[in-house]
Amino acid sequence: MSSINVKVGNVDLKSPLILASGTCNFGHELSEYYDLSILGGLSSKGLTIKPRQGNEGCRVAETASGMLNSVGLQNPGVDFFIENDLDYMRSLNTGVIVNAAGHSFEDYIAMVQKLNAHKDKIDALEINLSCPNVKAGCMTLGADPVQVKEIVTLMRKETDLPLWIKLTPNVTDIKAVALAAQEGGADAVVLINTLLGMVINIKTRRPILHNNTGGYSGPAIKPIAIRMVAECSKVLDIPIIGCGGVMSYEDVIEFMIAGASAVEIGTGSLIHPTLPVKITEDLIKYTEDNNLDLRDLTGTLELW
Ligand code: FUM
Repeated sequence: MSSINVKVGNVDLKSPLILASGTCNFGHELSEYYDLSILGGLSSKGLTIKPRQGNEGCRVAETASGMLNSVGLQNPGVDFFIENDLDYMRSLNTGVIVNAAGHSFEDYIAMVQKLNAHKDKIDALEINLSCPNVKAGCMTLGADPVQVKEIVTLMRKETDLPLWIKLTPNVTDIKAVALAAQEGGADAVVLINTLLGMVINIKTRRPILHNNTGGYSGPAIKPIAIRMVAECSKVLDIPIIGCGGVMSYEDVIEFMIAGASAVEIGTGSLIHPTLPVKITEDLIKYTEDNNLDLRDLTGTLELW
């Protein structure tokens, strides 16, 4: 029997396709375009303890084969989210993944405690140790395996919700960071967040982004993400969620062969809001044509 259902650890998803954090807010806007229940899940905008206005000035720049963003974690704060958006996300009849960010260990622990109090409405916590656009926490913490292990260990004590750790590619050895997350008790890792980049306005000779740098996403980063998923797949016991440059069903399949159990789409859905519908239809057709259970593809890569 063909199927596109997948599992990430104990979490059942009706499709491998998840909308990436920061590209779908909490689902309100995109639900006007299509029925989000076809998706495996939706990852919320990165939330913090206090509301954040985000970075000032220009925050998005288009580039060849991608874009840079330096949003700076604009969000209404976790309490507002719980009160106003969590039930809405739950009503979408798809996986509810809540992306949680922080500036310090204390922030992350407080976030997990607050969200754990609503665990009946949440399928997984995606812990953001990777946003490159803030001065403290996130990537600054998530690039160091020692701190990653420590923070994941502390969060693990606070919840039995699945902890998916979203990692930064801006490191020398992604395996070391992924293994640190596993040793801390993570249920899965999400690979990858954006690459740190810069674009310059040649007339003003200043960076286009007012934060100077931003996170690079889109089709150009896919080979890097695939390489990192493949490397980590060989050393991890926990599942991987692939992310980076997905534009087609073939991209989803490539991530799964490399070792991903599920796959997030971000920039592709910003460019074409209904692209996830097309990818889902194509995945169903692919599994039917090949009489395939999609999850059987995970980690089938054979290296030369
Ligand atoms: O700047 C931002 O809000 C980006 C967040 C992320 O990459 O996780």
